[in-house]
Amino acid sequence: MPAKVVVVGSLNMDLVTRAERLPRGGETLIGTSFATVSGGKGANQAVAAARLGARVSMIGCVGSDAYGEQLRGALLAEQIDCQAVSVVEGSSGVALIVVDDSSQNAIVIVAGSNGLLGPETVARFDAVLQQAEVIICQLEVPLATVGYTLKRGQALGKTVILNPAPASGPLPAEWYASINYLIPNESEATALSGVMVDSLESAEAAAACLIKAGAGKVIITLGAQGLLFASEDEFERFPAPKVKAIDTTAAGDTFVGGFAAALASGMTEAEAIRFGQVAAALSVTRAGAQPSIPSLSDVQAFVPL
Ligand code: RIB
Repeated sequence: MPAKVVVVGSLNMDLVTRAERLPRGGETLIGTSFATVSGGKGANQAVAAARLGARVSMIGCVGSDAYGEQLRGALLAEQIDCQAVSVVEGSSGVALIVVDDSSQNAIVIVAGSNGLLGPETVARFDAVLQQAEVIICQLEVPLATVGYTLKRGQALGKTVILNPAPASGPLPAEWYASINYLIPNESEATALSGVMVDSLESAEAAAACLIKAGAGKVIITLGAQGLLFASEDEFERFPAPKVKAIDTTAAGDTFVGGFAAALASGMTEAEAIRFGQVAAALSVTRAGAQPSIPSLSDVQAFVPL
């Protein structure tokens, strides 16, 4: 029986346009395409963990609109257990995404039903948390819910991962002691630590601050530059596999879900990091959030450029 990953987080319908470049303030651009794609950082990470070999349960909320039905259906199609994905009155979460010709994106999210995932809902599904080996949270649901889940996960003795995305400032100090793996990107590591992260050297300084704050281990993802792993005793750099990127949406989510699935399956930390990196590299070669996430066989067959 594959190991169990539980994701507590968001589901969004992504409204994605492509344009030559991202628009400036006040500017109207002519886009080249539009698509409606299942996304949300929580749901993307759940799909990644499921496609990459884990049994997955999701705890989240969708709205009573057509998007809610599609978002839940997309998880069910991946055999993800959705008994704890509640349908609440009102609109589902949405993300407005622009992707440019250099594969970068800009995203605005509106929480909708994700904002109604309260700690009491997570507490109601405690039996789901209890089955987990690894629990993953992000920051697209209320902070009180994230704080509750981290603490409960730690009390249950689970491996707890926080992907602090999106982040606009420091995390509550009391959270750190419950986090086994903190996985920010450059801008999130900057927001959390106050150290401007724009290189591997500055990533080391930021990671040192986050370890000092109490995080067990820190993995700062640096896009095409790879990532930095940090623990109390060491820093280790992992270069990114080389690929031709067309859309970086959900690359971080694919790394987090892949890393969690690999860790839960018994791989070592270093193996799980490399596995997550290959999955993320493959995801940037395809468009969209969930449609871009590779399967286990894709990762096993991967040959770098
Ligand atoms: O990380 C990518 C995700 O961020 C998108 O799917 C979008 O929904 C936003 O949450």
